[in-house]
Amino acid sequence: MIYLDSNATTQVHPDVLEVMLPFLTDQWYNPSSGYRAAKVVRKALETAHEQVAALIHAKPEEIVMTGCGTESNNAVLSFAMAGGGTMVTSEIEHSAILRYSDALCEKYGVKLEKVGVDAEGRLLIDDFAAAVKNDACALASVMWANNETGVIQPIQEAAILAHEAGVPFHSDAIQAVGKMPVDVSQVPVDFLSISGHKFHAPKGVGAIYVREGVRFDPMLRGGGQEGGRRSGTENVASIVGMGKAAEIMKAKLDADAHAPIVQLRDHFEKRLTTELDGVTVNGSLTHRSVNTSHVSFQGCEAAGLLILLDEYGVQCSAGSACMTGKQQPSHVQTAMGISAQQAKSSLRVSFSIFSTQEECDAAVEAVKKAVGKLRSVQGGPGVGPVQVYTGS
Ligand SMILES: Cc1ncc(COP(=O)(O)O)c(C=O)c1O
Repeated sequence: MIYLDSNATTQVHPDVLEVMLPFLTDQWYNPSSGYRAAKVVRKALETAHEQVAALIHAKPEEIVMTGCGTESNNAVLSFAMAGGGTMVTSEIEHSAILRYSDALCEKYGVKLEKVGVDAEGRLLIDDFAAAVKNDACALASVMWANNETGVIQPIQEAAILAHEAGVPFHSDAIQAVGKMPVDVSQVPVDFLSISGHKFHAPKGVGAIYVREGVRFDPMLRGGGQEGGRRSGTENVASIVGMGKAAEIMKAKLDADAHAPIVQLRDHFEKRLTTELDGVTVNGSLTHRSVNTSHVSFQGCEAAGLLILLDEYGVQCSAGSACMTGKQQPSHVQTAMGISAQQAKSSLRVSFSIFSTQEECDAAVEAVKKAVGKLRSVQGGPGVGPVQVYTGS
């Protein structure tokens, strides 16, 4: 199978697995215990904090390990909105922001202001500037890179505007960390969310960056782990794995080793747009994650394309993985003003450090075959409900 769904999750890097295994076998000790064997485990956790911090140019003590990216986002919102007020965010956030803030609105009367994006999928920065000037604004939260389109948001500008208005700033950087430079010494975020499984660590581990001097009260209280900022006995093996993954990705970013991924993405799009009619690449072409291609195929329903592609050995996604199976245009595409028809005919293809040129070319051939087949049976643009034809 050719895996081109790396925004959904990534394969655990073999070197990551190797460093994790001892903590699932011999070194099972509770890192909070007093004996020497436990200190080895505690040291490994400290190293992981250093490695994750180095990836984003932070200090180890600014990293709070969590159970996933969703928890990181929820924990920041839970703390920052505890006193009520307005939260300013964007229309294109992940559900780990949007659904949690909806719950805050229902339960605690928090007000939510969602700023729109332009046709390229980038935050309307003037609207954002106006929104954060609201006196009741208690937090601004804007994602670094969108999970569906890969479009990178003007985080530096947004963080500065929020601070000028006296508002703390959070970024869900889950689709950015490990894939592109994220440097908190340059970009003045107060909080930032990270998820390990998006950069070759296992699933079920994440982190929050909390800038030194910024107050942060925990969502989980108990044994006082993570400096009292996230209680719960640590998922040691996964945290150690995320540390190693951070080290690997930092080395690759420092060596510009992500350049081949850009070439694959661009080659994929160039071949499709020249060899097929009715293909549109969505989102900003200049402010985009190196690995993500969001493409619409006129006259084809994505649900049908996905099933055919799976049959032809290619795994990718329609919009966000969470939306797969639903016949609704995603909120991201709606916010960008993409028509419902075009939205429903969009695929998200996301490459990783393991993707190869051969896979890319084989995927192009598979997409061409699937599009040709669907267009022949669905009859071009404006077709009705999706039907999937799996016969020869
Ligand atoms: C932008 C974004 N935020 C949050 C999440 C949730 O992260 P996790 O799966 O680690 O809970 C994801 C995962 O798809 C994401 O893409």
